[in-house]
Amino acid sequence: MNMYDSELVAGILTNEGMNTTNYINDADVILINTCSVRAHAEERALSHVMQLTHLKKKRPGLKIGLLGCMTRRPGSRLLEDYPGIDFVVGPEGYRLLPALLRDEPLQGDPLKVGYEDYENIIPLRKTSLSAYVAISRGCNEECTYCIVPYTRGGERSRSSAEIIKEVEQLLKQGFKEITLLGQNVNSYRDSSLNFAALLDRISRMDSNLRIRFATSHPMNISEGIFEIMAQRENICKHLHLPVQSGSARILELMKRRYTHQQYLSIVEKARSLMPEIAITTDIISGFPTETEEDHEATVQLVREIQFENAFTFKYSPREGTEAFSLVDDVPEDVKVRRLEAVSHLVRDSMVERNQSMIGQVVSVLVEKTSRRSDEMMVGRTGTNKKVLISSDFVEPGFTVNVLITGCTSQSLFGAIYTPEKAHALA
Ligand code: 5AD
Ligand code: SF4
Repeated sequence: MNMYDSELVAGILTNEGMNTTNYINDADVILINTCSVRAHAEERALSHVMQLTHLKKKRPGLKIGLLGCMTRRPGSRLLEDYPGIDFVVGPEGYRLLPALLRDEPLQGDPLKVGYEDYENIIPLRKTSLSAYVAISRGCNEECTYCIVPYTRGGERSRSSAEIIKEVEQLLKQGFKEITLLGQNVNSYRDSSLNFAALLDRISRMDSNLRIRFATSHPMNISEGIFEIMAQRENICKHLHLPVQSGSARILELMKRRYTHQQYLSIVEKARSLMPEIAITTDIISGFPTETEEDHEATVQLVREIQFENAFTFKYSPREGTEAFSLVDDVPEDVKVRRLEAVSHLVRDSMVERNQSMIGQVVSVLVEKTSRRSDEMMVGRTGTNKKVLISSDFVEPGFTVNVLITGCTSQSLFGAIYTPEKAHALA
């Protein structure tokens, strides 16, 4: 979502005659789009600020702006504590940026403007292959560890007509893949249209357009969504379904609204309708009061489900959230140990799943030349696996059949599969 927001900001500014540059020394303004979801993300943003503040000494005209969730955190004192920062703008205030940069009077406070959906702004996308399309902003869930509902506000669904207009435009521009974005896409609603109906509409627009979506909340995913996914070949068989923990007690403390059994049965349902589906997840280790037994329950769940991939995090207390009032009582070394145990298991299941694909022929959307070698191209399967394709000449933007010949935990390796090759193999 932050990457999409950066594209929106670039869209707003280029619309006003400003330009982006890839060279920091050419920039008159540097905007840092921040994330508050964990302390680590904030620390990284602030270390960028410190580095750039040195650059300002050499270039006094340079302006540094901080954007995004960090600016809206409770008790945020960024301007006072970091003199290198010239201005801060929250996730809802980006329309004010052009006036702010031109030192014109502002129509509102860039931190407190009302909720935005950025209708009529065309994001400045870096590629012409794959595009993010926001379908909603904000979140109505009350996960006790999460700062997002505070920094981004409650959920607002964009109008389906606007979303469809944007997808039509992307198709005209030759885009091959879109990712529908929202904190909880499954709860999308525009009058009578729910997410399943939106997916249905969009997937009929062009059978060659690949459709992805993220993120899904287990309590909002419905059979209707799975049915549309199973019916339409162009909807990628990939579900990012954050589980967070395998312990019923911790899930309750997190206010996730499901038990691990419910989560398991959702995964079972998805796999029964789409055996090839890739399920990925997010897991937090070391939530307050998490015992060895709770951790073991997560380990057990990870073993049982065999995720295709997982983002694993150490719990990070966020001021302003409900969980902040709980004592952060899992010692750091225990958090690290549990996190590593979970990550190792995930890596093992990734290798296993990838190995089981050796010998299969999969459809791959070619993205670009590999950084490893000019003679290799990189692409993705519908299940969002990275594939390195050797030798044969293939252009980005083409969808090709690839015979998988090898793998690591992170990537698959393969070669273009042609009817002649099929013959030779037979
Ligand atoms: N500490 C650790 N991880 C967090 N996440 C959200 N808030 C926190 C937190 N306070 C993780 C969740 C979420 C992902 C986007 O970030 O796993 O799904
Ligand atoms: Fe945060 Fe929960 Fe909303 Fe995800 S669903 S953004 S974890 S509050």
